[in-house]
Amino acid sequence: MSGGKGTRLRPITYTSAKQLVPVANKPILFYGLEAVREAGIEDVGIVVGDTAEEVKRAVGDGSKFGLRVEYIPQEAPLGLAHAVKISKDYMKSEPFVMYLGDNLLKNGIKSFVDEFAEEKFDSQILLAKVPNPREFGVAEIKGGRVVGLEEKPKQPKSEYALVGVYMFTESIFEAVDNIKPSFRDELEITDAIQYLINKGYVVNSHIVEGWWKDTGKLEDILDANRMILSELHQRLDSKPGDASDVHGNVQLDKGVTVKHSVLRGPCIIGTGAEIVDSYIGPFTSVGPNARILGSEVENSIVLEDCTIRNIGSRIGSSLIGKNVTVEKTDKLPRSYKLMVGDNSRIILF
Ligand code: TTP
Repeated sequence: MSGGKGTRLRPITYTSAKQLVPVANKPILFYGLEAVREAGIEDVGIVVGDTAEEVKRAVGDGSKFGLRVEYIPQEAPLGLAHAVKISKDYMKSEPFVMYLGDNLLKNGIKSFVDEFAEEKFDSQILLAKVPNPREFGVAEIKGGRVVGLEEKPKQPKSEYALVGVYMFTESIFEAVDNIKPSFRDELEITDAIQYLINKGYVVNSHIVEGWWKDTGKLEDILDANRMILSELHQRLDSKPGDASDVHGNVQLDKGVTVKHSVLRGPCIIGTGAEIVDSYIGPFTSVGPNARILGSEVENSIVLEDCTIRNIGSRIGSSLIGKNVTVEKTDKLPRSYKLMVGDNSRIILF
């Protein structure tokens, strides 16, 4: 699923698909495609919306992932169950996995897919314990079985949220044809699964023990970036230059310039980037051709072609979009001069 509105990630999603925001310099969607391939699946239909062209450019025919990819256009983000509905012809009555393109599971999905293929359930859902269930689809569990599901409930019946990976058989098409749009005018997948439960179909559930993240918000993307970077190994495809210190698990791609700088891993610096007179701290991903000059950055994602110059204080917990300039000058008057897109967030210290 790579359509949607992405309202919680504006302004990034005004110009880009949220599924293509890079985590450790790789689009979130690519981790999902790799997990799907690792589970033995070879045919993928990607549901796309307004950002279809960008997704197609990034994924192409899927061959670089060992997949055959086709695209399923959704005229508007009318809900996950709507996305299932429009995928019916593509699925040709076969069992399938629905994977939300902005979800990351550390241990992949192979074990769940294998079990689903063997056990012949009508559907299988994954659950994870979360501190903030009101923000998710939440399961009601009785005697170890899921008996109810509610989308973003005001009073959650458990701490178990629905993870964005679902397994279905063709029974789900009967369900999506028999539900009505919710108060937010979407066809909810939780309502469709509730229909399956009510009709006596077997909906199996699994608790996901490993790390899982729905990257719908900035804080979650930074968490995901930390999680992926914490497994990074040192790899220096470029040689750090004069008077520079590189500590810990740092990955420098080809054509990176590092001068008079300190890099403390885990961090990753994309090809062609320039780090001069700067400090790059742990859990930072710097995109290709970005320039960080006379500045300090940590726990952040800086996308390609950015320039960060002469910032006196440290930039942290930030996501900086493509081709952005952040700089400090001596020119008077001493004021903040901003040209910032709608719905941006700037926090000064
Ligand atoms: P959400 O994160 O629930 O929705 P959203 O992308 O519209 O974001 P926001 O709530 O911030 O406005 O969607 C989960 C995933 O499913 C995401 O990758 C987008 C995708 N999606 C579709 O492809 N079609 C849809 O109709 C919906 C609702 C989501």
